[in-house]
Amino acid sequence: MTLGSALIVGVGPGLGLALARTFADAGHPVALFARDAARLAGYVSQLDQSGGIARAYPADAADPVSLRGALQTAVDDLGAPDALVYNAAVRRADTPTDGDDQGWADALAVDVLGAKIAAETVLPALREGRGSLLFTGGGLGLQPSPQYASLSVGKAGLRAYVQALHAQLAGTGVHVTSITITGKIGGGEERFDPAVLAAAYLDLHHQPDTDWRDELLRD
Ligand SMILES: NC(=O)c1ccc[n+]([C@@H]2O[C@H](COP(=O)([O-])OP(=O)(O)OC[C@H]3O[C@@H](n4cnc5c(N)ncnc54)[C@H](OP(=O)(O)O)[C@@H]3O)[C@@H](O)[C@H]2O)c1
Repeated sequence: MTLGSALIVGVGPGLGLALARTFADAGHPVALFARDAARLAGYVSQLDQSGGIARAYPADAADPVSLRGALQTAVDDLGAPDALVYNAAVRRADTPTDGDDQGWADALAVDVLGAKIAAETVLPALREGRGSLLFTGGGLGLQPSPQYASLSVGKAGLRAYVQALHAQLAGTGVHVTSITITGKIGGGEERFDPAVLAAAYLDLHHQPDTDWRDELLRD
């Protein structure tokens, strides 16, 4: 059976690339989204060499027009999606009282608003109206840090958004879950290894609907 595409928003050398590789190895045509076009092209050639179907779509998740347009182009090119993974985030050191209005607006545009825009763009395009909308959360959303204040707020906001979307789409055949990762990705612990984490996302995509929850806590 031909599989639908997998759209991975926020692909860098860590979890994003592992997600793209995992879904490509499982037979999904994969679309890779990030701002750095040259780096994305390198990832696509790596995936091509391993026999996958992959394409790069440079886009800025902080810019709704850019993100919507790139997602729509990918759907037009690769066919109706089975899965969206929203993995983009802004990791910046900042504090609750840093006076940086624009920095916070830019960060939350990626951490929260981009996720909403990606979900509402992909939802009506899902193959036969079914599929998975998966979102990468972080432990900061559960235990905020004054040194990473905007990312703490962003991950908490993303988690709340996913819970609301999960509830809204209950019973529709669309699996909505956040994966809350509480440790350092690629820091040496197996459960936080990018490939191990990416396999957990694919497992969530394959999970029977009786097991669907709004969050997978990886701690
Ligand atoms: N690293 C950790 O230890 C850790 C721990 C817990 C949770 N997480 C979460 O896990 C996810 C992946 O983290 P990772 O470190 O493994 O990163 P990654 O998947 O290697 O890369 C993520 C990519 O997102 C892209 N991105 C950032 N802002 C973007 C924007 N405005 N538009 C489009 N793409 C954008 C960046 O590429 P461009 O610069 O090319 O746009 C970046 O390379 C993130 O959501 C992160 O918050 C990470």
